[in-house]
Amino acid sequence: MTKAVFPGSFDPITVGHLDIIKRAGAVFDEVTVSILENPGKGCEFTVEQRLELIRDAVAGIPNVTVCADTGLLVDHCRRIGARVIVRGIRSGADVEYEATLEQVNSRIAPEITTVYLISKPEHAHISSSLVRQLIKIGIGIDGLVPNADHKLFRRV
Ligand code: PNS
Repeated sequence: MTKAVFPGSFDPITVGHLDIIKRAGAVFDEVTVSILENPGKGCEFTVEQRLELIRDAVAGIPNVTVCADTGLLVDHCRRIGARVIVRGIRSGADVEYEATLEQVNSRIAPEITTVYLISKPEHAHISSSLVRQLIKIGIGIDGLVPNADHKLFRRV
């Protein structure tokens, strides 16, 4: 049985993330979507809010679970018994960023392999930071997140 982790900040989960989750779920026996801390980023949504949004988005996908953890990604993978990390690639900039992450992770935990899924072209411009900016300036986020009508996106 192969268990994979799809890690990220998910601040918030986007339709691009959800597509990668579904495709990973079709390849691996189990996929855990794991919220981890990116030391280079502050987050707009709390961990609890991000968990709620992801759980709402993946409800009904039988082999996908959701969790949050702290510390190193590879330690998290070891704790939950996953030997595969899944990451999505949207652009050349992502490749450069991902290469650094992979080199650090494989140095610490050579037994864990990272695999990459190329984002669909229609998702290439979608990012959590774009969603956060649109929310701040009051522009709708329909089609960018799986659950645009969720109460957490409602602002008075
Ligand atoms: O969605 P993101 O922000 O690109 O995800 C990045 C994330 C959270 C996967 C990465 O920052 C991470 O693995 N954080 C945990 C800390 C860690 O393991 N650092 C070592 C790798 S640089």
